[in-house]
Amino acid sequence: MKGMHPDPVGRPSRVVRRASQRSTLMRRAQPTIAGPHEGSGFSEVDHATDPTKYVRRVDAINGTSFWQAIKRRARDLLDVRHGARILDLGCGTGDEALELARLVGSAGRVVGVDRSQTMVAEARRRAAGKYLPVEYRLSDAQCLDFPDEWFDGCRCERVLQHLDDPRQAVAELVRVVRPDGRVVVV
Ligand SMILES: C[S@@+](CC[C@H](N)C(=O)[O-])C[C@H]1O[C@@H](n2cnc3c(N)ncnc32)[C@H](O)[C@@H]1O
Repeated sequence: MKGMHPDPVGRPSRVVRRASQRSTLMRRAQPTIAGPHEGSGFSEVDHATDPTKYVRRVDAINGTSFWQAIKRRARDLLDVRHGARILDLGCGTGDEALELARLVGSAGRVVGVDRSQTMVAEARRRAAGKYLPVEYRLSDAQCLDFPDEWFDGCRCERVLQHLDDPRQAVAELVRVVRPDGRVVVV
């Protein structure tokens, strides 16, 4: 609505500001580092002084109802079937791969791939003893070690923005999914 601006609870309110006020507001609108925040450190998690802080950061974000709803929607879009082979690219702590492993059942397979040893180790620790059809591999999203058309579906959440070449990662997703399979990118 032109000239209208939704307030934080969604009610429209008229906003009338001079140009000087607008430029001040635009400068203040730059991203801040307060609260759960995903900085570019996710491209090099293992090089951080404390890589486990990224595990905690992922958990904090994934625990919100907002991101839980997005994950549910992504799962619906992926249309996971019993017996399916599913890839989670940039799987982080591996929790979503566990959810998917429950859906594909013992006849299926879920593979979580991440570039960070810290993340892969944490994902394996969380999966230990659950006896679900899931495995976690250390690999770069831009160069996958899977045959063409290997997966029935692929997902990738909050990863592309951390890559040098996101197009290449998308090309890999398309390469490894079967022709009528689904790719869901968040
Ligand atoms: C913001 S986290 C998201 C993790 C997970 N997808 C989720 O939704 O909880 C980004 C993840 O991308 C991984 N990552 C960054 N660069 C990568 C690359 N080149 N190849 C594979 N994974 C990468 C990081 O290690 C991290 O686990």
